[in-house]
Amino acid sequence: MPYASIQVDKLTPHIGGVIQGVDLAQPLDEATFKQVHDALIDNGVIFFRDQRLTPAQQKAFGRRFGELHIHPAAPKEVPEHPEILVIHADENSKHVAGENWHSDVSCDPEPPMGSILYIHELPPVGGDTLFASMYAAYEALSEPMKRFLEPLTARHEGEHVYRGRYGLDDKGKTFPKAEHPVVRTHPVSGRKALYVNGGFTTRIVQLARSESDAVLQFLYRHVETPEFQCRFRWQVNSVAFWDNRCVQHHAMWDYYPQRRHGHRVTIKGDRPFYRP
Ligand code: SIN
Repeated sequence: MPYASIQVDKLTPHIGGVIQGVDLAQPLDEATFKQVHDALIDNGVIFFRDQRLTPAQQKAFGRRFGELHIHPAAPKEVPEHPEILVIHADENSKHVAGENWHSDVSCDPEPPMGSILYIHELPPVGGDTLFASMYAAYEALSEPMKRFLEPLTARHEGEHVYRGRYGLDDKGKTFPKAEHPVVRTHPVSGRKALYVNGGFTTRIVQLARSESDAVLQFLYRHVETPEFQCRFRWQVNSVAFWDNRCVQHHAMWDYYPQRRHGHRVTIKGDRPFYRP
C-alpha cells in the first residue's frame, strides 16, 4: 500500500513494517498521523529508528491515538508520568515484562488498543521482541475449527500474573479480570483475530475444564507458528508500536545478566466484540 509522505518497508507478508520519514518528537500533522495510523492497521506492528523522545513527547505521540492507560499493577517509576511503564532488566531481575506470548493487559474489561515501546539501553546482543499476527493465526485455522471457536468466550485474569510480581505490598489489592470473545473482530479493519493468550487467559467459559485446557494449549502452540511472526532487532532509540487487538508479542530474555531499559506508553482500547 503506497503512503504519500512516509516510507513503510514490510518485514514479512503478515506482520511488521519499518517506517521512515517521521520524527515522533514533533507533533504529527493530520496527514502524517493518518498515514502512521493506516500503517499500524495494515501491518499490526510498526517500527521507527533513531528517535529522541522525552517522556512528555512519547506521551504526546501516544495521545494522538487515544487516551493513555495506566498499568493496574506496575510501580509508577517516572516522576510526574504515571502513564510511563518502565521496561527494565539487569543482573538482579527475576522476571522481565512480557517474556511469554501475550496481548497487553488483556485481563482489563477494555484492554489496551496499542503499546508504544521506546528502548534507551540494550545488551550487546539479544533482547529482540517477537510479534505474531492473530489475524494470520485465525485465518490459518480450518473452517470447522473457526466455527467451533467463534461463539466461545474466555476468561482473562490478572491475579496470577501480577500478585507479588513487583515486590510491592499488594495485600487487599484486586487485579482486573474480564470475559472476552475467543475470536474478536477488529473495530477498524473489520478482520477477525484470535484473542486468547498464554499470559492472561485462564478458561474457555462454555467448555469443561479439561476441554478448555486442551483447546487453549492447542491455541497457544498455534499462535507461536513462525509464519505468523516477525522479529524486531532493536537499536538504541528504536520505537515499536503494536496493535494489541490483533497482535501478540514475546520479549526475548536471552541476555541475562545484561541490562535492557526502555519506556512504554499504552493506549486505552474498547471492549472486544465478535461480529460474524
Ligand atoms: C512488553 O511490553 O510486553 C515488553 C516488550 C519488550 O520488552 O520487548
